Amino acid sequence: MKEINTIIHGNCIEELKKLPNNSIDLIFADPPYYLQLPKGKRLKRANGTEVIPVDDEWDKFESYEDYDNFTKSWLSECQRIIKPTGSIWVIGMYHNIFRVGTIMQDLGIWFLNDVIWIKTDALPNLNGRRFTNNHETLIWAVKDKNCKNYTFNYEQMKQINGGKQMKDTDWIFGLCRGNERLKDENGIKAHPTQKPLKLIQQVLLTATNKGDLVLDPFFGTGTTGIVAKALDRNWIGIEKEQKYVDIANKRILNFKKQ
Ligand SMILES: C[S@@+](CC[C@H](N)C(=O)[O-])C[C@H]1O[C@@H](n2cnc3c(N)ncnc32)[C@H](O)[C@@H]1O
Repeated sequence: MKEINTIIHGNCIEELKKLPNNSIDLIFADPPYYLQLPKGKRLKRANGTEVIPVDDEWDKFESYEDYDNFTKSWLSECQRIIKPTGSIWVIGMYHNIFRVGTIMQDLGIWFLNDVIWIKTDALPNLNGRRFTNNHETLIWAVKDKNCKNYTFNYEQMKQINGGKQMKDTDWIFGLCRGNERLKDENGIKAHPTQKPLKLIQQVLLTATNKGDLVLDPFFGTGTTGIVAKALDRNWIGIEKEQKYVDIANKRILNFKKQ
């Protein structure tokens, strides 16, 4: 496939249609969350620094119906292209993950687990006095309920877990910060939702082997590509914003395996 180890610049709804049936070993999808933040609203941390919200055009939809149609379009293509031995991982928050989950089940995609990414350093709820939203949910699923031989590196996960079965669905990692967080020339975050490498590393170690092909239809800064390269997996990214394609290309090109 000519797309292997490249970023496709385009809308994943169109681009996914060009990929062959049953051709991908793992899909990691970090789609728009449809956060619906009030326009122009700015929040400050206790130390006075401003929180940069996700109010980008790519996170905007007309309505829930619009978001659901979008979600159904990309998920049905993902279901078509994932191998029967592969798996689909989708990450989201309370704003969208329940809608995404319902659509997955309606399409016949079969759930294996939901994994909770607990953020050790989540922002407090600056908007009011409600609970801190300190986690995101990952749905781990297969093409349909007949898929029994999906890749799951049970033994390797056990090894990573000090010889004990890795049972927990709570994965505890900090946010993407420090040197890992990409910044623009003004020192501002280059992307509002860059995910930590460790989180995606855990996904790929759980459910892929060396040489497998990993697809990320919402590539952003290319975090999935970096992890795939580090772990000797192949990858394909799809990203519709040229600025993120450029950032991800540069990041992957400059990445040197240790
Ligand atoms: C939540 S972010 C992903 C961040 C990524 N996981 C990272 O670590 O950098 C979603 C990304 O999907 C892109 N996007 C949104 N709609 C898209 C579409 N229809 N096709 C392709 N990319 C899209 C956005 O530009 C954004 O970069």
